[in-house]
Amino acid sequence: MPSSSADTTLLDFPSLGVRDAVGVQLLFTSLRARFIAELARAAEAHDWQLILKTWQGPGATIPVRVRGNWIQNAPEELRLALLRENEELIGFINLRLGVTQTLQEQGLTSGEMARARFATLQSIADREIQECRDEVDLGLTKIAWLGRRSGLITHITSNWLKPSPSELKRAVGQALNELKAHVEATLESRRAAIEDSAEKTALAREREDLSLPGVVRALGSRHPLRQTFEEIERIFLSLGYSVVAGPEMETPYYNFEALNIPEHHPARDNMDTFYMAAPLAESAQGKPPASPLLLRTHTSPMQVRTMEKQPPPVRIIVPGKVYRRDNPDATHGFMFQQVEGLAVDTDITFCDFKGTVEYFVREFLGPKVKTRLRPSYFPFTEPSVEVDATCVFCGGKGCNVCKQSGWIELFGAGMVDPAVYGFVNYDAKKFSGFAFGMGVERLTQLKYNINDLQLYFQNDVRFLRQFA
Ligand code: DAH
Repeated sequence: MPSSSADTTLLDFPSLGVRDAVGVQLLFTSLRARFIAELARAAEAHDWQLILKTWQGPGATIPVRVRGNWIQNAPEELRLALLRENEELIGFINLRLGVTQTLQEQGLTSGEMARARFATLQSIADREIQECRDEVDLGLTKIAWLGRRSGLITHITSNWLKPSPSELKRAVGQALNELKAHVEATLESRRAAIEDSAEKTALAREREDLSLPGVVRALGSRHPLRQTFEEIERIFLSLGYSVVAGPEMETPYYNFEALNIPEHHPARDNMDTFYMAAPLAESAQGKPPASPLLLRTHTSPMQVRTMEKQPPPVRIIVPGKVYRRDNPDATHGFMFQQVEGLAVDTDITFCDFKGTVEYFVREFLGPKVKTRLRPSYFPFTEPSVEVDATCVFCGGKGCNVCKQSGWIELFGAGMVDPAVYGFVNYDAKKFSGFAFGMGVERLTQLKYNINDLQLYFQNDVRFLRQFA
């Protein structure tokens, strides 16, 4: 038996690295596998000399090495397990190798002795079959016993039965037939038992207990931002506005130029954003694209897109996401949400504008809240204003939230700058209108006194539940 330096049977404890009973079991499983492989090779070559010497002979056999190298050097607590496994291994080897020699060679000369040998074999078969846990175990055991080429029954037929002297042949033949029938029947009944119990566990698993209460799924609630969107939409729908949506990816033309923000206008400074890789068609020609797409910095581009498509009257609101190159903190995020508003018609005056804004603020924050307009600047409105409301937390007396001023800023708005009409071919002499752009996070914050913008996006149910 050639043994390489990697041969574990030559190593001893503790260099084997085995620490517990499971390790011991694994060690012997691999030995058994090695024996079976060598047995198959020997059967193939009809040469039993080498395998007999290695596994069963009196000298340097593997079970002997196991005793010398392993058991003697093993830690106390593993010795018993090793001894037991080694006994089993020896039984395993003897059984399989016993059938490679004739009965005479083994000194079994009477029918009585032969029958005793068959009886032992039968009880071993019984044990091995009983230990099968599933179809795979059963298949392997079946091959070991009944396999045509090198199953035990085949070996017994050619090594015990055929060379028997005539006075033994009858007894051996009969015992062999009985053993074979017994193994077949036992395998079959074990197979049925395994199948039966597998079926039972499957059935038990699938059985439905109709008396159990159903699965109660917790109902979620609308996100506070969504609630604000819906509230704003409700108010403007009741005023005859319609809701439109636009692309989040925009061209610089709609996001800036057509809103009267030319390329080097300072109003672009706080509207830095994310630019998209150039569209393929343009870059394929080898020139840099003149206008890379960007993520819109406000919902205002939809003013232009809407007016391009339809003549006045226009009454729209545009809810949606917008993006800026801002680092996240309590009042900034790279993404936030706005509702844009635009009304254009004949004879729309600053009075209509003021009345609409006041109506909205009272509907949204409550009837006691007062409104004021403060001068401001936006390139696309003239005049431009910031809409302020009396502080909802102190009623206008002054507190931390309003920084003692009694007022809080709500959103930007104004009368549409006639220059914008120039971009959409509206007659600036005939038509007039107003526009506004509200920050949804900000309005929600003011309504519920939320002091950190990031809370909206962290998905913490302890926060979200408060708005259910
Ligand atoms: N687009 C502006 C921004 O995001 C907000 C705004 C201000 C929109 C005034 C308007 C407006 O329509 O009239 O900062």
